[in-house]
Amino acid sequence: MINIAVLGYGTVGSGVVEVIEENKAMINKKAAGELEVKYILDLREFPGDPYEDRVIHDFDRILDDDEVSIICETMGGTKAAYQFTKAALEKGKSVCTSNKELVAKHGPELLSIAKEHNCNYLFEASVGGGIPIIRPLNYSLTAERLQGITGILNGTTNYILSKMEREGADFETVLKRAQEKGYAERNPEADVEGHDACRKIAILSSLMMGKNVDSDKIMTEGITKITSADFAYAKAAGKSIKLLAMSRAVNEDEVMAMVAPAMIDVENPLSMVNGVFNAVLVTGNMLGDSMYYGKGAGKLPTASAVVSDVIDCARHQGRVIMCFWDKEEAKLAPVEETVRGFFVRVRAEALTRVQAAFPGGEALNVAGRSEDAGYFTPMLKEKEFMAKCEELGDMVLSKIRLA
Ligand code: HSE
Repeated sequence: MINIAVLGYGTVGSGVVEVIEENKAMINKKAAGELEVKYILDLREFPGDPYEDRVIHDFDRILDDDEVSIICETMGGTKAAYQFTKAALEKGKSVCTSNKELVAKHGPELLSIAKEHNCNYLFEASVGGGIPIIRPLNYSLTAERLQGITGILNGTTNYILSKMEREGADFETVLKRAQEKGYAERNPEADVEGHDACRKIAILSSLMMGKNVDSDKIMTEGITKITSADFAYAKAAGKSIKLLAMSRAVNEDEVMAMVAPAMIDVENPLSMVNGVFNAVLVTGNMLGDSMYYGKGAGKLPTASAVVSDVIDCARHQGRVIMCFWDKEEAKLAPVEETVRGFFVRVRAEALTRVQAAFPGGEALNVAGRSEDAGYFTPMLKEKEFMAKCEELGDMVLSKIRLA
């Protein structure tokens, strides 16, 4: 018998219990033992729930029970979740989590505690929900020198941008509808301002570098300024607009990472990732590109990834699964020094000024739009682009990076 405890009986926690129940026979075979949910920790009671009798409110009962060897942390947050995770690992209990905020903030410390105590801290569900991406980076691509990772890592914003693209609607209208349908939170800030994607690319970048990439140092821009007019120009140019989380290894110690909306060609495989789906494009020096696609959020997809980690822990009882993520900080390359092309949408009367500011680019007109004009700059340093936009002042209506 392999006894497990679930911390937090919300969407993901209850999904974990459901996945274990639904796929019991097959999971037990793969775990080489019988998984049993012994405790569910939550502040609430769940009268009528089939697992009502397992619900407890005191974490110490789990900590002090030597029969519990694996814990699923599906509470979220970085306070109680951090304390519980640390205490569990120090007792040699493995922890599997979907909590990206905690992994991004304390990942290397918790991994090193797990290593010291011969147990595991696994976090497949923290990035891309049900998409296997942590395990490929840790196990499958180990022969590669990883050069870059580009992902659509947030389902809420991808849903909003996809709807804006298809329906020609504005951000606020689509956000309101997404909230009504439960696809966006009442407080959508973490998603629409890019913070959620930032934490996820920090985790992936740390695994790419083998060093800690601090999410607080990653330049992050959300999607709130993207308009239906921007999509009209993108469409006319055969492009799409996506919130991309991007990371490039500059050298062994330095990484360029950012989260920002970007215009991408329709031939780019990431342009086909629509709605709440996520995808991660990984570039290695031997394999080239490989892409991982699937449901990046939701109860059962995320729970499935947590349970896959539980099975891994069950298979490796008393053994540490290697994870290359040191405490040493990776250096963040300044984004303003990167070279790329940009799309600018300007007031129609400013087009000649924009052409003079960025010679060698290409103007784009969209039928029926007389109030503004689009312009694709040639490749230039981001800081030069921003400085020229500053000079153009309120003539610039929007600016979007090309990827
Ligand atoms: N809010 C997140 C998203 C949930 O929209 O992708 C999964 O991390």
